[in-house]
Formats: sequence, structure tokens, C-alpha cells
Amino acid sequence: MAGGHNFSTPSLTSLFIIFIIFFNSPSVNARFTPPDNYLIDCGSPQTTLLDDGRTFKSDPQSVSFLSSDQTIFATSNSLPENTSLPLYKTARIFEDESVYKFLVFQPGRHFLRLYFYPLRHPDYNLTTAVFTVKTNDGLVLLHDFSTDHSQFKEYLINVTSDDFSLTFSPLKKSFAFVNAIEFVSAPNELVPDSATAISPPGVFTGVSDFDLQVVHRVNVGGPTITPKNDTLSRTWTSDSHGYMMFPKGDKVVSIDTNAVNYPAGGATPLIAPDQVYSSAASMADSGVSVPNFNLTWEMNIDPGFDYLIRLHFCDIVSASLNSLYFNVYVNGLIGVSGLDLSTLTSGLAMAYYKDLVVNASTIANGVIRVQVGPSDLESTTPNAILNGLEVMKMSSSVGSLDGLFSSGSNSHGKSQRLTMTIEAIGVAIGVITLLVLILSLVRRKNKAKGWDEGGNSFTSWFLPLNASYCSSLLSSKSKSKNGYSSVLFSKVGLGKSFGFNELRDATKNFDESAVIGVGGFGKVYIGEIEEGTKLAIKRGNPRSSQGINEFQTEIELLSKLRHRHLVSLIGYCDENSEMILVYEYMANGPLRDHLYGSKTALPCLTWRQRLEISIGAARGLHYLHTGGSSHGIIHRDVKTTNILLDENLVAKVSDFGLSKTGPALDQTHVSTAVKGSFGYLDPEYFRRQQLTEKSDVYSFGVVLFEILCARPALDPSLPREQVNLAEWAMQKQRKGVIETIADPKIKKTISSESLIKYVEAAEKCLAEYGVDRPSMGDVLWNLEFAMQLQDASLQLDPPEEEDDDDTCKGKKMKMVNSESVKKIDEKKNKESDVSVLINDDSGVVMGSPLFSKMEDIEGR
Ligand SMILES: *[C@@H]1O[C@H](CO)[C@@H](O)[C@H](O)[C@H]1NC(C)=O
Ligand SMILES: *[C@@H]1O[C@H](CO)[C@@H](O)[C@H](O)[C@H]1NC(C)=O
Ligand SMILES: *[C@@H]1O[C@H](CO)[C@@H](O)[C@H](O)[C@H]1NC(C)=O
Ligand SMILES: *[C@@H]1O[C@H](CO)[C@@H](O)[C@H](O)[C@H]1NC(C)=O
Ligand SMILES: *[C@@H]1O[C@H](CO)[C@@H](O)[C@H](O)[C@H]1NC(C)=O
Ligand SMILES: *[C@@H]1O[C@H](CO)[C@@H](O)[C@H](O)[C@H]1NC(C)=O
Repeated sequence: MAGGHNFSTPSLTSLFIIFIIFFNSPSVNARFTPPDNYLIDCGSPQTTLLDDGRTFKSDPQSVSFLSSDQTIFATSNSLPENTSLPLYKTARIFEDESVYKFLVFQPGRHFLRLYFYPLRHPDYNLTTAVFTVKTNDGLVLLHDFSTDHSQFKEYLINVTSDDFSLTFSPLKKSFAFVNAIEFVSAPNELVPDSATAISPPGVFTGVSDFDLQVVHRVNVGGPTITPKNDTLSRTWTSDSHGYMMFPKGDKVVSIDTNAVNYPAGGATPLIAPDQVYSSAASMADSGVSVPNFNLTWEMNIDPGFDYLIRLHFCDIVSASLNSLYFNVYVNGLIGVSGLDLSTLTSGLAMAYYKDLVVNASTIANGVIRVQVGPSDLESTTPNAILNGLEVMKMSSSVGSLDGLFSSGSNSHGKSQRLTMTIEAIGVAIGVITLLVLILSLVRRKNKAKGWDEGGNSFTSWFLPLNASYCSSLLSSKSKSKNGYSSVLFSKVGLGKSFGFNELRDATKNFDESAVIGVGGFGKVYIGEIEEGTKLAIKRGNPRSSQGINEFQTEIELLSKLRHRHLVSLIGYCDENSEMILVYEYMANGPLRDHLYGSKTALPCLTWRQRLEISIGAARGLHYLHTGGSSHGIIHRDVKTTNILLDENLVAKVSDFGLSKTGPALDQTHVSTAVKGSFGYLDPEYFRRQQLTEKSDVYSFGVVLFEILCARPALDPSLPREQVNLAEWAMQKQRKGVIETIADPKIKKTISSESLIKYVEAAEKCLAEYGVDRPSMGDVLWNLEFAMQLQDASLQLDPPEEEDDDDTCKGKKMKMVNSESVKKIDEKKNKESDVSVLINDDSGVVMGSPLFSKMEDIEGR
């Protein structure tokens, strides 16, 4: 353990260096390379490239981790009137509380930018969404937020821990959405700890303890500066937005941006770009002998909060030193008296900024008024200037940036009626579900009898499950007003009902050559129905009682579970007393065949592909343990032959024949028979015969080592200490030489940081006691991290092409990858030209016959 810790410190440092080298900023004179740089175009099916050169990834591509499996994408071609930013074209909708989790490489100030636009969606009226957004530190960013126009929110948050998460919590019966998220490191110098307090006047220290929301950011006297022209991707609006109260008294001055200087210890090009300092508002020569007035700006703000006001100055008006002195006022109170820029900066055209803290008690009418006016009317040219202005809300003592004093309840009234209707529907569904549940319980009680007597037909066991599956689908759809739910209820059920002849033809009369797998229940065949659709057809053997039980378990579970990383059930056949289940066909077969021992030579999987596969499988298991039903489900037979790969090498967990719902449901039932596969079996389960999710975690740890080392979990042909992979790998890991047993075909392409993280995850899974093992969610998190580390090192050091056929080529793998991603995108576009995209992680599997059937029902 201590060894592992020692490893990770240098790895993070080197990662930071990687990023420095990597993210070259476009600006010449101001560079900042954010150690954390998460740009997510939520709900977008692909990467989005902005005009400013930044690339926003779609949520699944992004290395952030989203807790929610039940999500909906929305897309629209109409953009808000006042922006052409493509980020507003897609959104992600959350019906339940959902968390975005980000790994933080470097604690400190971070920009958090959120984009909202209630685009049109046939099932969700986004203008009615009401939700709260919080961070993991409990900071409330938005409270009961709802909007009917585009909104951009920007925060500067001091992140002190290793991860940062954003929780979207819809108001009861409502939902949440977000169009895009930026979570990017800010330079530490950006927000110093001390400022000048205005009331009472004095030095204010402790700004670091506050989280900030940027409310206004103005390039006074100049044009709007877009993220393209600011290294930190900030937007500075132009002064022509009505902030300036007496435009007649204002004279705009500007100089060449190259003429702006940055004195040591003062402002830097990161504090504000050249363009801010090179233009200013100054006092117009009003014709009067003494220009005795103030330049005044007014900005609307939320009352009840303290504000940090940053004023940017650069003396670009004076002909000589020490000729410009002026006062700065905020809300009528003196902020700086006799500001003397030449003395402060020892020169002209020197950038300078001043931070002022304005106490909430001095703010009236929700307005902040900033004024500058000459302090020395005796001077030859009395004048005052301002180059830039930022107004930042400071978090309240209870950790909020919104809501405490919010008076905006108008939208709530509107949504009230809708909420009530939804509630009524919800109650109705609840009653139906309850009935169905009771029915299925009654059925289940008679279960053993029924099967043994063999009198009941196969579907008699389907029916209750069938209905409860439907009702779960129905309730998840209850908020949509699309009206097809009731049709769905009666029609879809377990999917398609296949005719026996149809399946017999599809498998050439269940020919041996069509067998692709064998289990206790019978055989699995590959079948092809019209249109060339391939299916996996599992034909139960009615004479095997074990088979029947496994079969039944599988039906029970699969009828309830839908997930991108679980093999899905498409339909069934119950004619001629047959028990046949029909699944999606997984073109690339079991993962094991791709690692070793396959009869036909398969292309070697690259490290990245292996990471992707392990992440996929981990997601599937995580869903089983947590997301599938109210009680966790334990797979009980996690191994590389039960992880199947589809045509795009997406991993799906299969074979739920031994699965059990978690202890919560099964307390009365003590299982005496230890089941599972040797080599993967949790020793604690073996000893104590007590089954928990952590037994799956153990088995998954063995899978992880199998993926790394490309050898079986048990190999009796090897010398004794090597027979059991788990023991062998742990022994090597303890000696710190795990890389010596990694698959020689890919060993060279694995970045050492990635390897360390991956093995750390695998090692934790194999902990002796279940309580010491991580949850699948944590494993997933670590694997995502390992992937990120691998990608970071690849970018730094692209592997050179080797002509050695025994080695997987990192580069080639990348190409294949992006192609397959493109293929998926194309497929999605073809299948759905309506403006709804259902995420593959949601309840329905895209592209499966089940899905097309639902589309038929909808009448599309
Ligand atoms: C969405 O809801 C708002 C407020 O309830 C309503 O004004 C608007 O017409 C609705 N839009 C659609 C498309 O139903
Ligand atoms: C668009 O205009 C609305 C109303 O003027 C404003 O509240 C909103 O912030 C603007 N959105 C963007 C992205 O500029
Ligand atoms: C963030 O907060 C911590 C603890 O309050 C403080 O030590 C650190 O200096 C702060 N960092 C920044 C950049 O404000
Ligand atoms: C932004 O930068 C480009 C060059 O990168 C420059 O041509 C343009 O004038 C700049 N815009 C502003 C508003 O300064
Ligand atoms: C400028 O504004 C301050 C604060 O509002 C006020 O006290 C002062 O009299 C004003 N100066 C002039 C010349 O109006
Ligand atoms: C604002 O003033 C109140 C009392 O007047 C004080 O308790 C509070 O700390 C002040 N806030 C700041 C940020 O100075």
C-alpha cells in the first residue's frame, strides 16, 4: 500500500509536465496550461469544435464520470437568438438526481462554466424544468433554477480536494438539464487572498475562502472580447450594454495592444488580456473649465451577497508621470482616494488592478454603482479613467451563491399545474405497479411447483414479469406526454415473440455448426432472420432442472435490466414446450478469445482497447450492483468468457444464470452451495458462504489481471506458484515487478502511470476481505483514470510504428477506434432523424428490434 502511494506522487508530477507541454495556448504573450481541462458538450453525439479552437467532448468521451444511467439527450437545430455557440444545440436531461464527477489533478481555483438553453424537445418542456445544482462541498450554485432563455453561468471555485462533483437535483416531479460544462483550472494568481474592504474601510483578507460567481465582466471603452482572444477563455462584454450612465461625459481612448506593459508584481496578461488594458473610458473634454463630474457605471446584481469588484486600470491618457489622480467610489462610498497610477506602477501604460470587497449591507436596490472622478481639480488636466470592470458574487456564509434571497418564484406557479397532473399519473402508475407486483409474488410462490409439474407453459412465468417490466418502463416514461405508454404496456413485454419455425429456420434446424456456446441450460446458436439480422438463440433443455432454474433467473433479471453494457434480451419463443430466449448477437464473442487461447487468430487488443473493455464491463457490473433495481444484483459468475464483445468491441456482461438479488431481498434464504468459476472465486465467499457484491468485485479483479497478462485465471500446466493468476499477480505486485508478467505483445505501449493505476485497482479488488474491496463504482473510477493517464502519455509520446507483427500498434488502434465511433454516429443518425436521441445507456437499446418495434408503436 505504502509502495503504491510512493509511486503515484511522481506520476502526478510528470502528468502535470505532460499537460504543460501539451496544451499550447494560442496567445503569444500570455500562456496558461490548465492541469484540469474538462470541456463537455452535454448530450452531444460527437465532439464539438468551437471557433475559438477549443474542443468540447461528448459526455461519454469525456473522462468525467456521470453517475446517472437514465439520461435523455435532446438536440435542436434552432439556437438562441443572441448566440451562435453550437454548445446550445444539445442538452442532457436528468429525471433523477445525477452527478458529474471530475478528477482534480491540481487543487486551487477552477473556472466552472455552465450553459443552459431550454431547447425544444417533444417529451420534455425544458422551460418547466426546476432544479438545483450543488458541488460536493455543499456549495449551492443554483437553487430552484429554471429558465426560458439561454443562460451562461460562470464560477471561480477554490477546489481543495482530489475530486470535484456537480450534482443536478430536479425539484420533485421535475427534471434538470444542462447544455455544456467547462471545468478548467485557473491560475492561482488570478484571485489573490487580500483586497480592500469598503465598509468598514480596511484590508480584507480571506478571499480564498470564498467561492465566486462572475456576474459582470466588462471591457470598458473597448469591444467585446471573446474566449478566442483571452487565454483563459473569458468573455469581456463591451461597454455598450448600458452600464455607462452618462455616455456624454465619456471619451474612449485606446492604444496599440503591444504598448501595454506589465510591471513586476502587478497585473499580468492572465489577470486581463492586453485588449482590456489598451482601451479605456476617460473624461470627455466637456468644454467647461473644470470637469467636475464622475464617470458612472451601474450594474444589476442579486442583493444579499457580498461582492468582489475588480477594477482594471492602465494610464494610457497621460503625457507624463504623476499627472493623473482620481477617486474611485462604489455605491457612493470611497473605494480608493487619490489613486496615483504612476507611483503605483512607476510608469505609463502599465497594467494595474484593484480588488474591492463590497459588503451586502451597503447595496441597495440590487445595483452596484462604480464611479471614478478627479480628486485633484487643481491639476493641469483633471481626469479619471477605467479600463475594465469585473463584478463577482461572493459565496454566503452558508455556502451558497444562489437562492437564499431569491425572489424569482414566478416560474414555480406556472409549473405547479403540470406537476399536479404528473402526480396524478404517478399515483395511477403506482397502483398498477403494486397490483402487478402482488400478482407476480403470488405467482412466484407457486414457482417451484409449476416448473416441476411441467404443466405450466413457459410464458405463464413470463406474464407477471412481463407486466412488471412494462410497468417499470412505463413509470420511467411517465413524465412524457407522448401517449404511447399504454400501448407499450400491452404490446412490448419481453420483446418479440418468435415462432418456433422461424427460429428453427434461422439456425438451420439447430445445426451443430451454428452452436456458439454451451451451458447448463442447453446450447446457444447463432441465427439469422430476414434482413440478415443476426441473433444469439439460447435453447433451454427442459430435462435439466438446473437449466430450468438458471433459465428462469436469467429471464427474471433480463426482463428488468437494460443497459448498454449488459447483453440484452430481444425476445423469446414458447411454442412446442420450448424454452428459447433470443439475445442480441455479439459479433466478437467472448473477451477471453481476444486475449489468449483462441482457435482462430484474432487481432491483438491494444492497451487502450483493453481499458475500454474493462471500463465497459465495470459499468455493466456497477449497474447490476446499484442501478438495476432497488436491490443490488450479484452476478456470481464474472469471468472473461461472460464478457462479450459486439462488432465495435463494446463489452457487455452476459450470463445471469447464477445471479442473485442482493442480501436485502434474500435474507431468509441461506445459500449453501457455493457457485462460481474456479480461479475467480472470492475466497471469503468460499470460506463463509456469504454472498455480497464484493464477491463480484473479487472476480473482476481476476479479470483485470487476465486482461493485463493475457493468460487464464487458472493454468495447471504452469509451475505451481504460477497456476493461480490472482496469487501470482499479487506476488509480483508486492515485489513491484508487475510489468514483468504483463502481456509481452502490448507491454511496451502501456504508459507506466496507466499501469500503476490499473494494477492498483485490480489489487484492491483482490483484497482478502470484502469490506476492504472497493465498490464497482470506485473500480470504474480508477479505470477511467488509468485511461486518462494512458491518453495523456500517448499525446506526449506517440508510439512509433513498429513492423513487428507480434506487437499491437498504439497508433493503428487509435485510427480503428475513431472509425468505429464514426460508424456508430452514422448509424444513430440514420435510425433517428427525429430530434430525440435516446442514449444507449438508457432503458432502451438503440438499434435492437425491440427499439424499432417501439418506434412502430409510436407511429413513426
Ligand atoms: C412550455 O411551458 C411553458 C410554461 O409552462 C409554456 O408557456 C410553453 O408554451 C410550453 N411550450 C411547449 C412547447 O409546450
Ligand atoms: C441572451 O439574451 C438574454 C436576454 O437578453 C440574456 O439574459 C442571456 O444571458 C443572453 N444569453 C447569452 C448566451 O448571451
Ligand atoms: C484555496 O483554499 C485553501 C484553503 O482555504 C487555501 O489554502 C488556498 O490558498 C486557496 N487557493 C486559492 C487559489 O485561492
Ligand atoms: C483577436 O485576435 C485576433 C488575432 O488572433 C485579432 O486579429 C483580433 O483583432 C482580436 N480581436 C480583438 C477584439 O482584439
Ligand atoms: C462623485 O461621486 C461621489 C460618490 O457618489 C460623490 O460623493 C461625489 O460628490 C461625486 N463627484 C462629483 C464631482 O459629482
Ligand atoms: C459585512 O458586514 C457584516 C456586518 O455589517 C459583517 O458581519 C460581514 O462579515 C461583512 N462581510 C464582509 C465580506 O466584509
